[in-house]
Amino acid sequence: MSIFAFMVFIVIISKLLHSSSETPKFDAILPRSITALSGSCVEIPCTFNVSDFEDRLKTADITFGCWIKETDHFDLTKPDNIVFNGSQNIIRGFSHIEMLGNVSQRECTTVFYDIMKNHSDIYYFRLQMEPNKVFRATFVNSPINISVSDVPMPLELTPLQEVMEETTVSVSCSAEAPCPKQPPKLSWSNIPKSAIITTQLQEKPDKTQSVFSQITFKPSYMDHRKNISCTVTYPRNTSNDITVETTMMLRVLFPPKETHIITEPSATVSVGTNVTLTCKSKASPSNDMNYTWYKRGEQRHLAFGDQMTFSVGKTSGGWYFCMVKNKHGAQKSEEVQLIMEGYFISLVVGCVGGVLVLLLLFLLATIFRRLLRTKAFSESITGETGLSDQDHKKHVQISSIYNNSAYMTSEERVIPKDEDDVIHYGEIDFSNLKTNCTPEKSLGQETVYALVCSPGKAMNRD
Ligand SMILES: *[C@@H]1O[C@H](CO)[C@@H](O)[C@H](O)[C@H]1NC(C)=O
Ligand SMILES: *[C@@H]1O[C@H](CO)[C@@H](O)[C@H](O)[C@H]1NC(C)=O
Ligand SMILES: *[C@@H]1O[C@H](CO)[C@@H](O)[C@H](O)[C@H]1NC(C)=O
Ligand SMILES: *[C@@H]1O[C@H](CO)[C@@H](O)[C@H](O)[C@H]1NC(C)=O
Repeated sequence: MSIFAFMVFIVIISKLLHSSSETPKFDAILPRSITALSGSCVEIPCTFNVSDFEDRLKTADITFGCWIKETDHFDLTKPDNIVFNGSQNIIRGFSHIEMLGNVSQRECTTVFYDIMKNHSDIYYFRLQMEPNKVFRATFVNSPINISVSDVPMPLELTPLQEVMEETTVSVSCSAEAPCPKQPPKLSWSNIPKSAIITTQLQEKPDKTQSVFSQITFKPSYMDHRKNISCTVTYPRNTSNDITVETTMMLRVLFPPKETHIITEPSATVSVGTNVTLTCKSKASPSNDMNYTWYKRGEQRHLAFGDQMTFSVGKTSGGWYFCMVKNKHGAQKSEEVQLIMEGYFISLVVGCVGGVLVLLLLFLLATIFRRLLRTKAFSESITGETGLSDQDHKKHVQISSIYNNSAYMTSEERVIPKDEDDVIHYGEIDFSNLKTNCTPEKSLGQETVYALVCSPGKAMNRD
């Protein structure tokens, strides 16, 4: 039993040794597929491995690479399929093909120039080490599918979720660069002012290249809903340059901002009218915003919701504000004042009334001064008339009030200094006042004159 097993083991080992010495192992590493842009070039990154490669190199006089399209079945009778022969640099069907790599260092990276749509095909790398068939093989296990397109591959923009304001975020944009000799030019637009841009050519895992650009910034709430664009232009030799663009909307999360109140119809209100206060605010997210209304000096809130409508009462005047919240914070609006219209009127009435009271005081003061002067005058003529002091005073008082025009003429001659006072006195004419104080007058005037009307006149109006 164990001897039989041992025999089987020997046979397997010897077979394995035999086969490895018979057929050399080889493989190539190149992308399975690549998309090229028509009119541009395509670079195929390529390395290979052949067993005992160093030994073979020593025995070979010449080592060269070839590119064969369409079939892995190598057929010299179909030379059109041999697009490139490195031994004599034979190129078929292409304007130019350049093998960048050094095959004696296991490199086979190749550039196909001015590639066109009808170049789309499956391509194989082939290595020949001559003479005497040191090594000849097409790398059938590593085909590459070159597909040529008239439009570039779409750009890749990092999917950016919602970002919190004032936190550092990065957005990156990458574009395939199948022709690194003529790399695409990448630019950004509509990015936040503070953004720092870094751009470089980057190697992908399959060794093909891409242009990778990253912007880093701290978004402000003003950047919310901004459409950031990444634009890439591919230079081409045999057709016009081509541009692709991709756009992403920035979504910034932030607590309420710019909170303010709009008062409709006006901030001056009168009792019995309806007033609507609307609280405006910016926030993100905006669907979970909640509004609370307050009045200065009152502990309790007045209402919820972005609008508050109420019928104005006597105590409605004052300062109002709203408080807006979302899940990222809250903001208080500036306070707006509701002014009662009645309050305004009473202010006017108060002012006018005050002025009239002053005028009355002035009037009384003038009369009083006149009385004093008359007294002095009568004293000077006492000796001539023979009247007693007191009798004379009484007479003057009466005449100064009820018969002032007659009094004035004599007064003016004796004391000319008093001219101004006399003129003022003349302006307040009681007979005129009475005619002015009639119900037909407009409200304002009536109010004004009502203060100087005699009580009897006021009663007459009712
Ligand atoms: C490449 O050219 C050389 C020399 O003309 C020739 O020996 C060889 O067979 C050719 N190989 C291919 C794959 O065409
Ligand atoms: C591809 O098409 C162009 C004309 O459009 C032609 O000149 C060229 O030979 C074609 N190449 C191949 C490999 O078919
Ligand atoms: C961004 O693009 C979207 C969709 O095209 C559009 O609805 C939105 O208004 C744009 N934003 C700005 C700020 O232009
Ligand atoms: C005030 O609003 C109430 C309720 O909407 C309405 O019934 C009333 O007619 C309004 N008053 C005025 C003066 O507009």
